[in-house]
Amino acid sequence: MRPNEFILILDFGSQYTQLIARRIREAGVYSEIQPFNFPVDEIAKIKPKGIILSGGPASVYENGSPQVDVKLFQLGIPVLGICYGLQLIAYKLGGEVDRFAKREYGKAILKIEKDDDLFYDLNSEITVWMSHGDALVKAPPGFEVIAQTENSPICVIRNREKKIYGVQFHPEVVHTEKGFEILKNFVYRICQCQGGWNAEFFIENEIKEIRETVKDKKVMCAVSGGVDSTVLAVLLNRAIGENLIAIYIDNGLMRRNEGKEIVEMFKQLGIKVYYIDAGEIFLKRLCNVIDPEEKRKIIGHTFIEVFEQEAEKFKDVEFLAQGTLYPDVIESTSYRGPSAKIKTHHNVGGLPEKIRFKLIEPFRELFKDEVRRIGKALGLSDEILNRHPFPGPGLAVRVIGEVTPEKLEILRSADEILIEEIRNANLYDKIWQAFAVLLPVRSVGVMGDERSYEYVIALRVVTSQDGMTADWVRLPYDVLEKISARIVNEVNGVNRVVYDITTKPPATIEWE
Ligand code: XMP
Repeated sequence: MRPNEFILILDFGSQYTQLIARRIREAGVYSEIQPFNFPVDEIAKIKPKGIILSGGPASVYENGSPQVDVKLFQLGIPVLGICYGLQLIAYKLGGEVDRFAKREYGKAILKIEKDDDLFYDLNSEITVWMSHGDALVKAPPGFEVIAQTENSPICVIRNREKKIYGVQFHPEVVHTEKGFEILKNFVYRICQCQGGWNAEFFIENEIKEIRETVKDKKVMCAVSGGVDSTVLAVLLNRAIGENLIAIYIDNGLMRRNEGKEIVEMFKQLGIKVYYIDAGEIFLKRLCNVIDPEEKRKIIGHTFIEVFEQEAEKFKDVEFLAQGTLYPDVIESTSYRGPSAKIKTHHNVGGLPEKIRFKLIEPFRELFKDEVRRIGKALGLSDEILNRHPFPGPGLAVRVIGEVTPEKLEILRSADEILIEEIRNANLYDKIWQAFAVLLPVRSVGVMGDERSYEYVIALRVVTSQDGMTADWVRLPYDVLEKISARIVNEVNGVNRVVYDITTKPPATIEWE
């Protein structure tokens, strides 16, 4: 739920839009991103304290470039335009933008020429970070230029009376010295926010909202043991107690003992989880399937089918809670439009629209690390919050080629050893993900004096911020040596271990 005080960010497709949103929340004020064409009437209704227009890759004169209704500037709500946002303000309000300006990337010195609340407590010169093609050549009537750089003589403009500001540089990136202060000045001094938004505030607010929405009906929530669904279930449990129906669908594609551990973890958290053993049907449907997309689709559809069957067993279920995060939402709302489909991601977020439940998605605006912070404020342990991500289709996308119970068992054993050794080396929490992949090839080896002809295990160990890009971890040789030796010695059916040294992009994290 939106608190009374929030900042609205209109997205024009900048790669930094998400960063603006989180900086504002870090400053203690809730922020929400909406697409650039979010209706002005709607904005007038929801009454944000301020509006930020993000940057974007387009040119304001370009055919089909994202625009705003000029009424936006008549709402009496303070506006800050960043980069493309600044150019749009100028373009809409009678200024001039030069399409053929010299491109400018990287650092520049901003000379602040006029005092302003936006620059409160700042030196008169700061280093700012630029990334633009077009530039302003004339400020719109009613605006004055209050700061400049060598290449952008019209770098910051203001209309003090209307509280409309535009900056050519990016205050949201860390390379802009005091960028966070500038955003805070906008939020607190210009928009007059009071602040106080934090994880506890979020929790309190959501609990109130969930109670009001749900009343005495039941909410179903599929948990996976992952961070998002676990934090969600704990939040729901606080809000509605017994009216939460948490189910765990075991698709037979989990790591060793994972199902039992998850049920036990929830028990410790005081949440009853209905354990649904559906492994047989998943494995049956995966029989003879080799194509990765086909596997993902089968698993996704089967998950929905099982989920719906289970939901039928409970009366009064009106709501379905999902741990959808902002990165899951962005692809359908971003100005840039949906990104190319690389893989069909199947998790609870993949349920079809025709589903009969109303949705509850408290984390729609948040990022994973913010959800972790909420989990922490809800009292969850670091062990739970720092679990490595695990894909919805589970080990099926790590057994390359056909999935069989035998291959799953080989992979489980190798995976167990890898994780154990990563933990022994105190590396688990420093790593985004570590897992084993079973390749569909056999290689020749020699064990004792015998020839062997067995499977190859690939190890994938990566660091990442958000799963969008990744680098392989330079594991110490002795750790690699131990993992390799243990897998070959202890796992029947494997005689060779290789280490995946590919970044994402061009590879993806999972192999399928
Ligand atoms: P890729 O392989 O696309 O993975 O580089 C990026 C991150 O997403 C995880 N992943 C999934 N998570 N459902 C999920 O919930 C899925 O279908 C899925 N596929 C990949 C992957 O483990 C990595 O952390």
